[in-house]
Amino acid sequence: MIVNQQIERWLTAQTAFFGSARRPFVTLSYAQSWDGSITTRAGETLGLSGNESRRLTHQLRSLHDGILVGIGTVLTDDPQLTVRECPGKNPQPIVLDSWLRMPPTARLCQRTDKECWLLTRLKPDGDFDGNAEFITLDGDDDGRVDLSAALQRLWEKGIRTLMVEGGSQVITAFLKAQLADVLVLTIAPTLVGGYKGVGNLELDCKSQLPQIRPLHSQMLGQDLIMWGNLHYREPALA
Ligand SMILES: NC(=O)c1ccc[n+]([C@@H]2O[C@H](COP(=O)([O-])OP(=O)(O)OC[C@H]3O[C@@H](n4cnc5c(N)ncnc54)[C@H](OP(=O)(O)O)[C@@H]3O)[C@@H](O)[C@H]2O)c1
Repeated sequence: MIVNQQIERWLTAQTAFFGSARRPFVTLSYAQSWDGSITTRAGETLGLSGNESRRLTHQLRSLHDGILVGIGTVLTDDPQLTVRECPGKNPQPIVLDSWLRMPPTARLCQRTDKECWLLTRLKPDGDFDGNAEFITLDGDDDGRVDLSAALQRLWEKGIRTLMVEGGSQVITAFLKAQLADVLVLTIAPTLVGGYKGVGNLELDCKSQLPQIRPLHSQMLGQDLIMWGNLHYREPALA
């Protein structure tokens, strides 16, 4: 079975087994170099995936109800987050944007097929000349959008499966909050020495490190794809 079918079947099985936690099932998926960099520097774009793994990313998008990125990724990459390289439906685009930094001209806010959902702390004042829905939420201890509250609201709005594509601050926040269920990682055969996908998880001891098991891996073109379930040994602190 080719790797795309293998991952699709595995993911479908994982989502089917996911118990109702009143939050969506969360797939963390991004591309990194062998040394764990997702780009050269925060705020710079670096295409790491080969053609085949980019197609896999689009296929994964089509298997989820929603796709989420941080505002840092929007301001850097101006992504569309659509399914273009394989057949399938576009997931609901969602952006974590506590302080409404989203430019109305961003491609996500110029799409005609779907309104971009902005998860934010603020109530918008005045006109926003883009196609977006503002979802106002409580903040976490750092003043950013609280992830648990965000996932609960997405669940209430019908999102049952969510793909989280980055960037680093968002990946790290989901891991710290123990809110990512599975990981699908593309590893490109290069060394970047740049901005790492996973930042400081602020864990005190090794036993708290998130584990991936069972671990699956396969080559896809020149890239290595690794995927598996995330396990967190210790409960998240309240
Ligand atoms: N290789 C890949 O697969 C890949 C994928 C995506 C991005 N990237 C790269 O990654 C870089 C962007 O990453 P980044 O780390 O700078 O930005 P990011 O993770 O995309 O976005 C971070 C921003 O999200 C907002 N946010 C709101 N609530 C949050 C929460 N609870 N936790 C964390 N963030 C929250 C914060 O801004 P506010 O405080 O304003 O809300 C924060 O600064 C770019 O260079 C991009 O090209 C690479």
